[in-house]
Amino acid sequence: MAVVTALTRSLGQHCPKRLKPSIFPHKFPSNNSQLQFQTLRTLILEPSLSESVKLRRLPGSDSGIVEVNLERPGARNAIGNDMLRGLRHAFEAIDGDSSAHVVLISSSVPNVFCAGADLKERKKMTASEVHSYVNYLRSTFSLIEELQIPTIAVIEGAALGGGLEMALSCDLRICGENAMLGLPETGLAIIPGAGGTQRLPRLVGKSIAKELIFTARRIGGRDAMSMGLVNYCVPAGEAHPKGLEIAREINQKGPIAIRMAKRAINEGLERDMTSALDLEEECYEQLLNTKDRLEGLAAFAEKRKPRYNGE
Ligand code: COA
Repeated sequence: MAVVTALTRSLGQHCPKRLKPSIFPHKFPSNNSQLQFQTLRTLILEPSLSESVKLRRLPGSDSGIVEVNLERPGARNAIGNDMLRGLRHAFEAIDGDSSAHVVLISSSVPNVFCAGADLKERKKMTASEVHSYVNYLRSTFSLIEELQIPTIAVIEGAALGGGLEMALSCDLRICGENAMLGLPETGLAIIPGAGGTQRLPRLVGKSIAKELIFTARRIGGRDAMSMGLVNYCVPAGEAHPKGLEIAREINQKGPIAIRMAKRAINEGLERDMTSALDLEEECYEQLLNTKDRLEGLAAFAEKRKPRYNGE
């Protein structure tokens, strides 16, 4: 707990919003021999601060896709201090890696995406420790939301409390029909405190968000789909392949264009229309002198697939 408190304080002092510069050095291989080694394996495991969070960088034609995998089966992926540190480390690493183009967040625990905050650890915390923990969780989810690259939450089974708030901080959500989503906090006499009260109404509208938060109701994948809470609800067990399919589509596009599109949408929605269109112009201008833009035009003329290098 002391580590979380100290980190929260130090991050809050130095970089209150974007949480930059990175507090952890990123550990992605970058030279050619390392890349050749990667192609020999199907998945590359990155060192993690926590046993509960695995960072994998996909090889070969999927290079550019990064997976953050939640793996704390005994607690149904509940986010304790150790897992929270692991999540922070993973997303700091991704934030510092220019070769990462799209992120999938998924679980290797059957029937659960994430059960939210660790309520057993919570019971032992003082009010001040809870305060620090929740602030650190909230800022970690903000870091996910503010990553320059697209993020996709792959939800099979339960995504509750902080688990759903983590998914809400992603750009896209895909769930299986067996999904169970909800913000149970008011049932515990607290409120969603890691962005849920803000991101849920922005996604599904004020009235539906209020109903879900006031009642603490758990809903299934199909209902989540009809509310616009998820982009796709697929048969149980097929959320990961669907997420990967979308990640691959994104991964083939111009990487700087994807970053600029995300920035224009996210930042533009916070502005009035005139200023948002100015932002769109600014983002477009970042693309005018890229090699990728010329490659896109050349590929079209030559009737072939473009090969983008993010330059
Ligand atoms: N914090 C700490 N431990 C948790 C947990 C949480 N949020 N969610 C589940 N666990 C633990 C259980 O206490 C249990 O531990 P035990 O084996 O020592 O008793 C273990 O994980 C398995 O939980 P169980 O309920 O038996 O699994 P399940 O597969 O039947 O149900 C859930 C999974 C996620 C639906 C259910 O555990 C649940 O509803 N958890 C609470 C979620 C919640 O309210 N989160 C909001 C936090 S604000």
